[in-house]
Amino acid sequence: MKDIKLKKCKECFSLIEVLEECNCDNCELSCCGSKMLDVIANESDASKEKHIPSFVREGENIIITVNHVMEDDHYIKWIKVKGNDYELTKYFNPGDEINLSVPYSDDLVLYSYCNKHGLWEKEVA
Ligand SMILES: [Fe+2]
Repeated sequence: MKDIKLKKCKECFSLIEVLEECNCDNCELSCCGSKMLDVIANESDASKEKHIPSFVREGENIIITVNHVMEDDHYIKWIKVKGNDYELTKYFNPGDEINLSVPYSDDLVLYSYCNKHGLWEKEVA
């Protein structure tokens, strides 16, 4: 399962990842008294070039970067690398350099999360 499912509270902006979906008919994840909203990748109208992760292959690994500012109020909070049987999340702080090396696999999907512009994704294959 390469896709991730995130939900966000429209009131307090808390963010959660759903690892296994509930199959009940009438229950919904809620926060602050409201149904949590699905977070859709690449949905923001912000610059794709500054948010979608990019990578270069170096031998058995790929080096992942994001061409985004890392300012105190606007930065990439985390990158997640997900494959069929692999997942890694690296968290960042303002001022950090975004640079992450992981073993190459053609089933990987790269995700980045901007504190202002949300979720972005790119497939490695
Ligand atoms: Fe951004």
